[in-house]
Amino acid sequence: MCVVEIGRIKDALGALVIEGEERLGTVVEHVYASDLMSDVLAFGQPHSILLTGLATQQSVISAHMAEFRGVVYVRGKKPKDGSAGFARESGLVLLSTEMDMYEACLRIDAAWTDRRATPDSASEAGRTHDLLLSRDFFIEGNDFTNAGMVSTEVKAVLKKIGFDPKLVRRVAISTYEGEMNVVMHATKAHVTLAVSPQCIDVVIDDEGKGIPDVALALQEGFTTATEEMRAMGFGSGMGLPNINRNADELEITSEVGKGTRLQMRFRVNGNTS
Ligand SMILES: Nc1ncnc2c1ncn2[C@@H]1O[C@H](COP(=O)(O)OP(=O)(O)O)[C@@H](O)[C@H]1O
Ligand SMILES: [Mg+2]
Repeated sequence: MCVVEIGRIKDALGALVIEGEERLGTVVEHVYASDLMSDVLAFGQPHSILLTGLATQQSVISAHMAEFRGVVYVRGKKPKDGSAGFARESGLVLLSTEMDMYEACLRIDAAWTDRRATPDSASEAGRTHDLLLSRDFFIEGNDFTNAGMVSTEVKAVLKKIGFDPKLVRRVAISTYEGEMNVVMHATKAHVTLAVSPQCIDVVIDDEGKGIPDVALALQEGFTTATEEMRAMGFGSGMGLPNINRNADELEITSEVGKGTRLQMRFRVNGNTS
């Protein structure tokens, strides 16, 4: 499936961001252009972006009901009333462009065609990876209630993009083990998911006690987990070895008393066994 980041659409339209600057990395799968909200509700597909000249709050509410991810106002229109607040609450991105509907559609189509051409032209060795999507997440150490939420989200994002289920499974399992390690052994972490046509990168950067001997920690069965952690089904010392098996590339850097950085790379067209 082909997806495009809303940020790319914003660039193609020279648009102003009215709401959702931090969500420009969100991807959309379709575009729906209309001023008729019943058409949006009847024919719009989920995960679309709406192009419209209708600036009333109904545009944002319709987009939300139809599971759209953003709205672009054409001809320099700006959303009225409580639209921006509603968009914020429902996670929609709002953009405004000076272009008219027809020109905006043409520009988005051109940006989309660019994106479709990318996987082939970018496959030459040494070429920098063209980012399709990047997302940030946070994990709190010792928060067993939410443990696994980040991996669940990562899995959902990759599944939605349409990657091979085997690849998604490898990324999800590795991210989950890394997330559990933060919950069990560290204080907090920042996670980034970066997807390009060539690879999926997951980086888990934590603050915490660090790992004194990474080679030892990578050995099957090595663990410093407590009895309580084991009682929850983790702490058998199989996490890092399993990540090592599943990731195409794994780099662990750690400083005792500071934290650990786990960089995992999964090649999109790599060995999926
Ligand atoms: N993020 C981390 N911060 C500190 N120590 C860690 C981290 N990840 C792993 N470790 C250390 O490496 C050991 C092995 O990790 P792992 O293979 O995942 O097994 P387990 O988590 O079941 O103990 C852990 O017991 C812990 O001592
Ligand atoms: Mg572990």
